[in-house]
Amino acid sequence: MDLILFGPPGAGKGTQAARLIDLLEIPQISTGDMMRAARKSGTELGKKFDSYMSDGKLVPDEMVIALMEERLTQPDAAKGAIFDGFPRTQNQAEALDVLLEKLGRKISKLVVLEVPVKNIVERVVGRRVDPASGQTYHIRYNPPPSGLEVIQRSDDTEDVVHQRYEGYKAKTEPALPYYEARGLVARVDGVGSLDEVFERIKNALGV
Ligand code: AP5
Repeated sequence: MDLILFGPPGAGKGTQAARLIDLLEIPQISTGDMMRAARKSGTELGKKFDSYMSDGKLVPDEMVIALMEERLTQPDAAKGAIFDGFPRTQNQAEALDVLLEKLGRKISKLVVLEVPVKNIVERVVGRRVDPASGQTYHIRYNPPPSGLEVIQRSDDTEDVVHQRYEGYKAKTEPALPYYEARGLVARVDGVGSLDEVFERIKNALGV
């Protein structure tokens, strides 16, 4: 199964993808995580990603598509993937179809997590990450275990999240009709407890 988790920054895509991995037995592919790993390793490519990510701007399509093409050749993604944060533009959506077609695959479903902007700002600003495992927490809704040293993502400030949200509205949401035309879109209310949202996603997927 190839599944897209779609939605604004902080909608819960990464949180819910982590829960779906075991259930569906396919990996999560997060372009944001891949780019953060490249930034951390200090490579030239990582520095290029950083120049866009720090300002909450989208990384250019050709760079993201090249990253995805390479990732899809890895053996763990041979039977499908949960795409988290990709595609984010119409160009990326079309490129993903081409990449999957070469592998004899196609998108089965796109789940949009719908969350109002006021919740998004609170979620993003309160997010904390365990740098060792990559596990995501929230200071109020999903607090880290006591004693665990967690960090805040550099793009998780109020100013940058507004910039990211504007980018979602302007460039990412307009890609939805591309999937709607094929009857692949399931809209899921992303407000509620982590368990409630997970149940809604499972219902939408019929799993
Ligand atoms: P990326 O890392 O993909 O960020 P994003 O899409 O903005 O999504 P987030 O990771 O912020 O949110 P999420 O939906 O995964 O929410 P989460 O589960 O963590 O991208 C970062 C940057 O990289 C982009 O700005 C861009 O520059 C670049 N980039 C990445 N992909 C790109 C692409 N394809 N093209 C171009 N550029 C790209 O949850 C958020 C918080 O809320 C957490 O604290 C969580 O604990 C909490 N939470 C989750 N669910 C709930 C709930 N139900 N109730 C209360 N709290 C909740």
